[in-house]
Amino acid sequence: MERKKVLIAEKVNIECIKGVLEPHVQVDVKLDLSREELLREIKEYDGLIVRSSTKVNKELFSKAEKLKVVGRAGNGIDNIDIDEATKKGIVVANTPDSNSISACELTIGLLLASARNIYQASSYLKAGKWDRKRFIGSELYNKTLGIIGLGRIGGLVAARMAAFDMNIIAYDPYIPDERFERFKATKKETLEELLAESDFITIHTPKTSETIGMIGEDQIKKMKDGVRIVNVARGGIIDEKALLQGLKSQKVVGAGLDVHENEPSYDNPLFELYNTVVTPHIGASTLEAQQNVGETIAKQVLCALEGEVIPNA
Ligand code: NAD
Ligand code: MLT
Repeated sequence: MERKKVLIAEKVNIECIKGVLEPHVQVDVKLDLSREELLREIKEYDGLIVRSSTKVNKELFSKAEKLKVVGRAGNGIDNIDIDEATKKGIVVANTPDSNSISACELTIGLLLASARNIYQASSYLKAGKWDRKRFIGSELYNKTLGIIGLGRIGGLVAARMAAFDMNIIAYDPYIPDERFERFKATKKETLEELLAESDFITIHTPKTSETIGMIGEDQIKKMKDGVRIVNVARGGIIDEKALLQGLKSQKVVGAGLDVHENEPSYDNPLFELYNTVVTPHIGASTLEAQQNVGETIAKQVLCALEGEVIPNA
């Protein structure tokens, strides 16, 4: 019988995935396919493993003659057309728990970097300039942290930032009150309330039609003067033009951004501002997360190809 074939189309922990899959199926790694090449090649494959860059949409599914499973090696599934996959009977599985700690820890890194101008001060010193007065930051102690989306990562951030003696408030209309209590976060009934009370705001929602542009010009106006904002969720949840204006006017005094409206992003005006710290979507880029993600997604893809029950499908 012909061996089933799985295509890995994005940079993942290949050794982990091969370790699980190769005894059972053929694994091909093709990381640099153009869109045209991917659309041509996909017809050969029973399984596809991607991260967040590949658009797994109607166009791709229409060319996928044998595809049974799409493994999303990571959390967000906004790059995958789930309705279309369902229509075609293709299973979509992701690994929502496998990189949450890494994403949470990067969030905290960006909160601290923004509060204490770590990147700017480091750049100055490396350029041969010793200046201790320029980099007056803010303590986190006793400040209010507003968390938008108190799910897996939002919850991890809340639990950890409580140790900094921050006052944690959260807005998430889709979770029970017990979850706010569990994370000792004061529930805000409206986004506006959270915006008005927060010294630091961090976003942890999925990217959906409801959350795209959720933080725009009107929302920034409602924030405290001198607010700092972190986004390790998805680009586009904050309207970048509005944020740019907010930062230029110093209404927003700092932003830590791991995710961007267009990725990869190169000539983004936000990158030129002094008061931003930006990273190229590295929330899940740790050895631990990539190992967890790789092992988990490989097991799920194998389950799907062997017709077994798949967690997180
Ligand atoms: P999750 O599903 O566990 O939590 C999301 C929370 O957002 C849920 O509690 C949900 O009720 C809430 N929510 C949904 N719509 C909302 C709205 N309109 N207003 C307020 N709250 C809303 O997700 P998670 O695992 O915590 O992941 C959060 C985000 O982080 C996702 O966008 C994911 O793609 C992203 N992520 C990014 C990286 C990275 O590398 N930067 C890594 C992992 C996850
Ligand atoms: C995710 O949603 O898991 C993140 O965007 C990280 C990734 O895809 O590597």
